Amino acid sequence: MEQFVIKGGNAVCGEVEISGAKNAALAILAAAIMTDETVTVENLPDVRDINIMLDALSDIGAVVERVDRHTAHINGSTIGQLSVDYEYIKKIRASYYLLGALLGKYRSAEVALPGGCVIGSRPIDLHVKGFKALGADVDISYGLISVKADRLTGSHIYMDKVSVGATINVMMAAALAEGKTVIENAAKEPHVVDVANFLNSMGANIRGAGTDVIRIVGVEKLHKTDYSVIPDQIEAGTFMCAVAATRGDVLVKNVIPKHLEATSAKLVEAGCRIQEFDDAVRVICDGPLVHTQITTLPYPGYPTDMQPQMTAVLGMAEGTSTVTESIFENRFKYVDELARMGADIQVESNIAIIRGVRGYTGARVCAPDLRAGAALVIAGLAADGITIVDDIHYIQRGYENFEGKLRQLGAQIERTCCEKEIQKFMLQVS
Ligand code: UD1
Repeated sequence: MEQFVIKGGNAVCGEVEISGAKNAALAILAAAIMTDETVTVENLPDVRDINIMLDALSDIGAVVERVDRHTAHINGSTIGQLSVDYEYIKKIRASYYLLGALLGKYRSAEVALPGGCVIGSRPIDLHVKGFKALGADVDISYGLISVKADRLTGSHIYMDKVSVGATINVMMAAALAEGKTVIENAAKEPHVVDVANFLNSMGANIRGAGTDVIRIVGVEKLHKTDYSVIPDQIEAGTFMCAVAATRGDVLVKNVIPKHLEATSAKLVEAGCRIQEFDDAVRVICDGPLVHTQITTLPYPGYPTDMQPQMTAVLGMAEGTSTVTESIFENRFKYVDELARMGADIQVESNIAIIRGVRGYTGARVCAPDLRAGAALVIAGLAADGITIVDDIHYIQRGYENFEGKLRQLGAQIERTCCEKEIQKFMLQVS
């Protein structure tokens, strides 16, 4: 088991390059098998979830060639299996994107049913509703979800709740259905737009992605493409929060500033200054942090995936802040870990009431999931003394070379794999 050991107290300063968006890349890789021609996907983040998705594609018979750390060729012409193993869905929920991709291309797919997860119950009723509306039979039994259709036909689908996953899954299947599909109350997240752009570059006819009505005219088949994934708005936001927490000054490069608007707005309210450039934002925090109120909402609202990182920042802001989590019901588990570092946060139902403390103190804490893990690292960077974050495999699912990028910004952080290495780091920094 690896851990991050952090000696807090250094302001993060300098420049950081943001990697490709994990959540866009996961869906794009699934969609890449929808043609028999070879697709090139660039700007893939080099993180665990992406490697697992590439393995899942190989496992069903696609030819996957990793050209370099950030580029893969995928050829779906050799797929011989329409069933995705439980091992994959257990590791990454996003392997359910293969349902939409395989259903569209082969009119049949089977994936183990994703269960709940640490941040809450994660139903897939809207995915099912969409597939059924396209004419598929959906069977859920023996822990599997099977979708089959003799014909897939365009349909009018109203999503009862805004869902990124259901919007993307249905959009993929509908891209190869007969006729026109309209998805209403669609998710507007940047990665929904990126997947639509990717499919369009393969010959699909999808309009309106990024608004709440997506119109898809099915095409008979898709063709090869060469596509670069958008930058990761959550990785960028995480570094922006690290700047706020440590009172630093960082130019966050290779971003689309528009995608960061909600995060930027809240950091400004909390006392940061932000300068926007074409493909970069500079975050400066040289004054006191002040309290603010946040509610997570679907895009363009404040992202739930940026909730723990911002809570870690507000834990050190003057006054009382509130953070309301409106997307997932169980996303405050990490608060107990933050409390071990001195945070004063009380969770009532889906609201965290945060009474700002002057600063955190280093402690040994455990990452309960990906974004919460990142939040604990942020707290550790700001804390007095040494913080050890265990279970960092969660963090490695979604952050490429997190410790390396932070070190470049002047943070004292090391990835260790045993007590001996932890002791060595402590001696070095003492
Ligand atoms: C995606 C992201 C995840 C992010 C989330 C919300 C990926 C791989 N994951 O997850 O990081 O936190 O969007 O921005 O892109 N819901 C239903 N029925 C469904 C589907 C969803 O009720 O069939 C509910 C969920 O329980 C949740 C809400 O809709 O309350 C939003 O979930 P959704 O947008 O689907 O999240 P994911 O796509 O799973």
